[in-house]
This record gives sequence, structure tokens and C-alpha cells, in this order.
Amino acid sequence: MVIGGCALPERHVVCDISSLGDPGSRGFVVEGESGSVELFVVRRGELLAAYKNSCPHTGVNLEWQPDQFLDFSNSYIQCATHGALFRLEDGYCLRGPCAGELLETVEVRLEAGLVVVILEGEG
Ligand code: FES
Repeated sequence: MVIGGCALPERHVVCDISSLGDPGSRGFVVEGESGSVELFVVRRGELLAAYKNSCPHTGVNLEWQPDQFLDFSNSYIQCATHGALFRLEDGYCLRGPCAGELLETVEVRLEAGLVVVILEGEG
């Protein structure tokens, strides 16, 4: 929605929290007013975070296979292309060709058991 030249944030329910593993991850394509947004949600205990599905190294999608964004130990987000490791809680790259860079955060909330992402409007 655009009011006075500025788009309002968009709220999208993507899944039920019970459909995420613990730890776990799932990818989504959200149709926003500005086009499709590829993102993923990670969960570990009380931690819930969402990021754009784009590696800061080259911009490719991160997952190994559908919904598989975590490394084998389920401790980090791992890019399937060159193996960069990112912290779940803030998307900071600890190791790899983009060390020190960040995944792009997407605001996420848990509302009555539903995972809701908030896309910032353009403008
Ligand atoms: S594309 Fe992700 S680490 Fe190179």
C-alpha cells in the first residue's frame, strides 16, 4: 500500500512455527508489492530469524537443497556454493570468502504460533 509516496511495510504469514524444525530452516518466496522476495527463516529454541536468500559473496541462493540452510551440525547457516558460515542470530559471516559481511535481515515475528515476516515498503 502506498500512502503519500511512501509504501507501508507488508506483513506476510509464511508458516506455522510447528512446521519449522528445532533447529530448522525453511525457504519461502513472498510476493510483495515490489515483486518476489526470496527469504528463509531459521529457528533454534527461542531464536527465530529471517534473512534474504542471497549470499553476500556472489548473491546466489544459500541452501543445499530445498529448506536446508543449516550446516550438518545445525549450528550455523551455511552457503552451499563456497561454504561460508553465518551466525543464526544476526547473519554475521564468521568464515568464508565473505567473512565479516552480513546476510540481509528480514523482520520476523511469532504471532499466535504463526511465523510472520515484515517486508519494508519501497519509497
Ligand atoms: S557464494 Fe556463498 S560463499 Fe561464495
